[in-house]
Amino acid sequence: MSFVSYENKGAYGILTMNRPEALNALDSNVLNDLSAALDQVDLETVRCLIITGAGEKSFVAGADIKEMANLTKAEGEAFGKKGNDIFRRIETLPIPVIAAVNGFALGGGCELAMSCDFRICSDNAVFGQPEVGLGITPGFGGTQRLARLVGPGYAKQMIYTARNIKADEALRIGLVNQIVPLEELMPTAEKLAAGITKNAPIAVRQCKKAINEGLELKMDDAIVLEEKLFGDCFETHDQVEGMTAFMEKRKEKNFTNN
Ligand code: CAA
Repeated sequence: MSFVSYENKGAYGILTMNRPEALNALDSNVLNDLSAALDQVDLETVRCLIITGAGEKSFVAGADIKEMANLTKAEGEAFGKKGNDIFRRIETLPIPVIAAVNGFALGGGCELAMSCDFRICSDNAVFGQPEVGLGITPGFGGTQRLARLVGPGYAKQMIYTARNIKADEALRIGLVNQIVPLEELMPTAEKLAAGITKNAPIAVRQCKKAINEGLELKMDDAIVLEEKLFGDCFETHDQVEGMTAFMEKRKEKNFTNN
């Protein structure tokens, strides 16, 4: 049985972290299953992915502390690389990825959520990077992505104090975009995903690329990247369809990913 399940809902997919007995903590097996579940996403047809956790208590309560307890320096570094490689794959997946955070998102759980394009959460969600209390640094990208997302000041405070924050504080500092009651979390995430999938898939993908890659560049280079990706959209079926629909005052559009 896999610790990560994947459900194809047509234009979007739902990937569920499923190890509830350990609050969906990430050990090597869970990470392997996460990688295998990503392999199942058919990028030809699926236009958006949602990542959530099984149960009502936890998204992911971090990397597995019991597995990490006796690692050597080299094994620790390799475990960091294993998580980082998979999270980077999520971050650079060509389609948008939404984290639907249903409870604890601690350590590797917060890091998994941050590797997604954006986050919504339930009102019982708790975020944090508790690693320094365990004698380690965040190891699946937390020092880098938290600082980029909420700015170095809040990131340093959260990481140095190891203090967890509740959903309302996460919203205030920009770590999540929206808080909803737990029972509305998946319907809200699915509505968002469905809304994204209605738009021209090539254009959405180019936007993800432009934002992600552009943020790493100087502005002069970043706008050139945008010009290239903007130009690439022209002459596609979907550009012609989108603009023709506007001119014909037509709401229904037939975007084909071509
Ligand atoms: N690793 C391994 N097992 C974990 C776990 C983790 N990160 N988080 C929870 N579990 C296990 C518990 O050990 C417990 O198992 P047993 O019943 O076998 O003892 C089970 O999940 C349920 O957990 P609790 O009984 O602790 O549940 P609670 O409601 O009392 O507390 C909690 C919930 C506050 C989230 C608490 O479980 C907790 O603090 N977990 C650890 C959170 C943490 O420190 N995460 C960061 C890990 S380090 C990391 O992620 C490094 C990195 O960047 C890569």
